Amino acid sequence: MENEILLTATENFVKSVLEGDSSGHDWWHIHRVRKLALMIGKSEGADLFIVELAALLHDIDDWKLVGNEGEQEKAKKWLIKCGLKDNVANRICEIIEGVSFKGAGVNTSTNDLECKVLQDADRLDAIGAVGIARTFAYGGSRGRGIYDPGIAPELHTDFENYKKSTAPTINHFYEKLLLLKDQMQTTMGRTLAEQRHSFMLRFLDQFFTEWNC
Ligand code: NI
Repeated sequence: MENEILLTATENFVKSVLEGDSSGHDWWHIHRVRKLALMIGKSEGADLFIVELAALLHDIDDWKLVGNEGEQEKAKKWLIKCGLKDNVANRICEIIEGVSFKGAGVNTSTNDLECKVLQDADRLDAIGAVGIARTFAYGGSRGRGIYDPGIAPELHTDFENYKKSTAPTINHFYEKLLLLKDQMQTTMGRTLAEQRHSFMLRFLDQFFTEWNC
């Protein structure tokens, strides 16, 4: 399949898989991450075809959406079905595997340029105004409360414990979102993260001012 045709077919496939998602991992998240990843990828001189394909497929096997019972390896099966060479399909899957945040104390930094680009794009969409909206949507979809002053944030050093957390959504700002700015791996990622980070600080400031009357 030609690259352009493959990208369009993949876009349609991903739309059909993520249709109806209300946890902040819907098609529009993929759309924004794809745009950000292409923008950052261009400035870093990354392979834009690999970046775009990985961006399109980066969430369809995510543990947050698939759980233990859902179909596994959808991205790989799709790429093979499209006739992509094994080494390219594996490369895309490795990038996707490296994208996810796995806990405050779990090192997910990488030397792979395309993975750095996609990680930054995905993490930028987790912070700022859009990130705040997505965080509460995700918390609601998993039955989490908004805030409970009796439950302190926890800096997870282990991916399994991070996955099991049922803490209120405000804790997620301290367990993940406010840490992302310093984990950006590209120049453009760092610049964009600064603005989004300060917006979250303003939001939290206002939230606690109102909470405490
Ligand atoms: Ni994502």
